[in-house]
This record gives sequence, C-alpha cells and structure tokens, in this order.
Amino acid sequence: MPLTGPKEMFDRAYREGYAVGAFNVNNMEIIQGIMLAAAEEQAPLILQVSAGARKYAGQNYIIKLIEAALLETDLPVVLHLDHGQNFEICKACVDGGFTSVMVDGSHLPFEENIALTRQVVDYAHARGVWVEAELGQLAGVEEEVSAEKSIYTDPDQAVEFVQRSGCDSLAIAIGTSHGAYKFSGDARLDFPRLEKISAMLPGYPLVLHGASSVPQEFVEMANRYGGKIGGARGVPEELLRKAAGMGICKINIDTDIRLAMTANIRKVFAEQPEAFDPRTYLAPARQAVKDMVQHKIRHVLGCSHKI
Ligand code: G3H
Ligand code: 13P
Ligand code: ZN
Repeated sequence: MPLTGPKEMFDRAYREGYAVGAFNVNNMEIIQGIMLAAAEEQAPLILQVSAGARKYAGQNYIIKLIEAALLETDLPVVLHLDHGQNFEICKACVDGGFTSVMVDGSHLPFEENIALTRQVVDYAHARGVWVEAELGQLAGVEEEVSAEKSIYTDPDQAVEFVQRSGCDSLAIAIGTSHGAYKFSGDARLDFPRLEKISAMLPGYPLVLHGASSVPQEFVEMANRYGGKIGGARGVPEELLRKAAGMGICKINIDTDIRLAMTANIRKVFAEQPEAFDPRTYLAPARQAVKDMVQHKIRHVLGCSHKI
C-alpha cells in the first residue's frame, strides 16, 4: 500500500478514543522493528523523521527504506516530518513525498508561530499534505526551556491558533517533555487543561509529544551492563491511555526506542565481548524495538486491529 495521510486514522482514533503511535525512525533496524510490531497488531502507523534523522541517514535513504518496508505490508503508514523548525525543511519534505509535516514554531512569539504555520499550511495543503503545528513549549527539543519552566498551552490561544493558522492537528504542552528525564517529583499531566482544549476544539486531533514511558526494565538493563542512565523517568502508561481517550490522536515515542536498543546492545557487548559482527547486537536490538512497540500498540495506545 502506498503512503497515506493521517486524516482517516485520526478521524477513527478520535471517534473510538485511542491514539495512533508516531515512532521516530533513524535506520533500517528501527523501521523493521516497528513495522513487524504493527503488522502483527494490524495497527495504523506513523513513522516520523526528525531533522537529526534526515541528517544522520539522509532523506533519500529514509524514504527508500520505508518504501521497501511498504512492499511487504498493506498497513496504512504515514511518513511524517517531526519538529520542522522552518519553512525550508517542511517544503523539502513535502516535495520529497512526506504525507504529513510538523511545523514547530513553538519557540516563536504567538503571531510569528501563526505566520510560519500559515506559510507551511498554504504550501502543504496545495499539495495534499497534512500539517501538525505546536503551541506551548516542552523541555528537551526546545532546549533552552527547562521542564519546570515549560509553558503549557493556553486553551483560548489554541482555538485562535488553529483557526488562524489552518493547521490540521495541534501538539500541546500539558506536562510532558522530551528525553529520558521527564519528572523529578510526581509524574503528572495537566488533564483539566487537556479536557478544556479538547472541549473547545471538538473533533479536532491533538498530539502529545514527549510521551515515552521510559520502561525501567531498559534503564536497569542498560545500567546493569555498564550504562549510566540514572534517575530516568517517563510518562506512566496509564496517563497515556487516559490522554488517548481525551482527544489525543497521536502519541510520539522516540526515547523508548533508543532505550530498548541500547539496553540490548549493551547486554550483548557485556555477555559476548568476543562478538564483532554487527548483526549479533543489531538483531536483538531490532527484536527489542518490535516487542516494545507491540506492547505500546496493544496496551497503551489502543490501536490494535484499527486498520
Ligand atoms: O522530539 C525529538 C525526537 O526525539 C527526535 O530527536 O532530534 O535527536 O532526532 P532527534
Ligand atoms: P520522547 O522523547 O518522550 O520519546 O518524545 C519523542 C517526541 O516527542 C518526538 O517528537
Ligand atoms: Zn517531539
């Protein structure tokens, strides 16, 4: 099946109260692990590519790897740009065949964020491509902002932003942050804020970034085999499940992929110091990505058998 846009995925996810997983991809093993999980679960899928991934793998490589994966499945798959910081990168991805782009103007003042988003919307919509935007700030990718100083999305501004920018989906800040260190105290999301935004934008798909749950099994495994990932904590899975029933139609996961791979690679290195064939450690890493993604699809996102 060719790449698809997210509209039908989100319409159904919204109606039925689940979320579609948006997983960051950087290489062949990650793509294969995610695709195998989605195939077994018969789940819709968003594969997303950051600016860093584009630079690391090259846009052509990423696209061709995903096209190769599509030859082996009839799952609906969206190819999405994650955190496009300017018009040029969004344009390059629209021109390159992405079916969805995120323009991230969340670092800009409100009016400038609207203007940048509008510019991308005009270009992308003329070519049939979906646009996600962001209002409010999370820690991590927006690096100068610390988790404590995250600026949560204002519900009134969200409505105005959507109307004036014309974006198709909106990433909101309600307490998540990127990376492996999300909470120092209690893990909490601002559900009253989400409820309000959702009620003021009925039927409109919202997006949750920074949604890795940082499984402690991977943190402990990585640390047992020489890692130093102290105090890493993510969003508890039950909070993600709750958000998925409140208008969050897309849930972004990258850190958990990194942890799953790295923990398993460390284990192979520690247990088989004589091994030097990359397949010896990349195969278990790929399997760990598959198992982790399958768990998310089935038990957290709720999008199993939703194609
Ligand atoms: O939200 C950010 C994603 O985790 C991508 O991270 O820019 O290091 O590829 P990256
Ligand atoms: P995590 O760092 O929590 O995996 O978030 C990823 C993300 O939001 C990608 O845009
Ligand atoms: Zn993000």
